[in-house]
Amino acid sequence: MDKGKEQVLICGGAGYIGSHTAVALIEAGYEVVIVDNLSRSSLDMVEGVRRITGVEVPFERVDCCDKDALAEVFERYPFRSAIHFAAYKSVGESIEKPIEYYHNNVTSLLNLVELMVERGRNNLIFSSSATVYGESDTLPVTEETPRKEATNPYGHTKQICEDLVSDATVAHPQFRGVSLRYFKPIGAHPSALIGEMPIGVPTNLVPYITQTAAGVRECLSIFGNDYPTPDGTCIRDFIDINDLAEAHVAAIDRLIAGRNRSGYEVYNIATGRGTSVLQLVETFERENGVRLNYRVEKRREGDVVAMWADATLAHKELGWKATRTLEETLRAAWAWEKRVRGI
Ligand code: UD1
Repeated sequence: MDKGKEQVLICGGAGYIGSHTAVALIEAGYEVVIVDNLSRSSLDMVEGVRRITGVEVPFERVDCCDKDALAEVFERYPFRSAIHFAAYKSVGESIEKPIEYYHNNVTSLLNLVELMVERGRNNLIFSSSATVYGESDTLPVTEETPRKEATNPYGHTKQICEDLVSDATVAHPQFRGVSLRYFKPIGAHPSALIGEMPIGVPTNLVPYITQTAAGVRECLSIFGNDYPTPDGTCIRDFIDINDLAEAHVAAIDRLIAGRNRSGYEVYNIATGRGTSVLQLVETFERENGVRLNYRVEKRREGDVVAMWADATLAHKELGWKATRTLEETLRAAWAWEKRVRGI
């Protein structure tokens, strides 16, 4: 292990966002330790990180809900900073299995925060979500936009976890936290060695698109074209996963350098641009030269009509902004799906 490098613990590092963040941190000169229970992820992602970076990244199969096992990881590695991705993320499933969602998402973060505070490992980045804003009254949303009461257990766990980090930083001033509120992460690493790997039938748009293009799914359903938007479909701020990963590097740099303006900070991680579902589908077809079989269906319950962010605070304070185009992101998403399917 290179003693000269700053180490970062990545809880949930075998997942979609965690694996891309591991690559970005290593490329920025950090050493990473990946912890994951592999319940919703796969060792292939860790292998992908190793192949992309050429670094034999340490991996520990640990469930962050098991505090003793997580404490052993603290014994073994001298990291000062950690990023928490180890959470469930499906809105629909959270309504069916609220206890599992509260247990997994909150306990894993609680254990991590307790251990960090106890042991003086003081820099934490928490994976939050635009979901904390609910259906905002104003667009674009800024970090000052009030959070709305959560409409599902998944969203509520994100709010509880943000509050947990914030409260801990007040009581323990040496401990510092940042919540990154992601808008809609899409795409894959340009190597096609890591990407989004949903278990079962995808519920998110881009994996459903790529699986439909690959012939794994017969037809993409577009959930509603009668929304009050220019083309009637919902609008999202789709952000490239590699851009998103780099935001974590910027946030870690800031905490390590002590440049944070307060013990707890929040940033929107987004492009600042809204794109409709239909625009995204058409861009995918055009960029990849494929025809997608799709049909319009009724609205999906719980969907927010339109959501995009003002991302200027992250630019101003983290020195970060999204740089990839939607076109290159959708090309990478398709390259990844083709590699997974052997097409
Ligand atoms: C969803 C979650 C959000 C979570 C995020 C995690 C819901 C309501 N929201 O965001 O809380 O943080 O995933 O990644 O589940 N669409 C289709 N056809 C499909 C799939 C989606 O038309 O097969 C549409 C949806 O109606 C929506 C848009 O595409 O308008 C984006 O959907 P999705 O990718 O699921 O993301 P979000 O709903 O933004």
